[in-house]
Amino acid sequence: MQTYQLRNEEMTIEFGKMIGKLLHPNDVVVLDGDLGAGKTTLTKGIAQALGIKRYVKSPTYTIIHEYHDGRMPLYHIDAYRLEDGNADDIGLEEYFESDGVTVIEWAQFIKEYLPEEYLKIGLDRNHDNTQRFLTIEPNGERYQQFEKFLEDQINGQ
Ligand SMILES: Nc1ncnc2c1ncn2[C@@H]1O[C@H](COP(=O)(O)OP(=O)(O)O)[C@@H](O)[C@H]1O
Ligand SMILES: [Mg+2]
Repeated sequence: MQTYQLRNEEMTIEFGKMIGKLLHPNDVVVLDGDLGAGKTTLTKGIAQALGIKRYVKSPTYTIIHEYHDGRMPLYHIDAYRLEDGNADDIGLEEYFESDGVTVIEWAQFIKEYLPEEYLKIGLDRNHDNTQRFLTIEPNGERYQQFEKFLEDQINGQ
């Protein structure tokens, strides 16, 4: 698996922008990383690439933030508070199947609700918390292809 080094916050945003450019309606992105790993920062970049101008912040208390001012809707989910299995009421499937992009932080708490295919992005910190390391784990054909497109973009093709 390829690891990308993100040397500062701006690089995390830029990487998010590259991802956002390639996303299609219906796509689901799972962000895997502990508190402060850079999940929300990456989502800001994704939102920018979708043309969203509203300020993106963590939906920790509200669980879902919807952004409708871009070229397609962005559904930003923080599943941390769904740990106790109260995800039934949210109608997650409707988000996944809608015409927007869904980005999920703390998806391990809603594992059984996730669609069959999704793009998983891992974020880790270095020892002194000054950098991040990003990995991409495609689940399903669509996201294997997505990873190729992303690599092409990173390599400037
Ligand atoms: N590549 C990076 N290098 C150093 N710091 C970063 C990087 N990317 C993001 N950060 C910083 O990490 C902190 C936590 O980011 P955040 O996106 O809120 O994490 P999470 O949503 O995973 O809890 C922020 O202060 C942000 O500026
Ligand atoms: Mg966050």
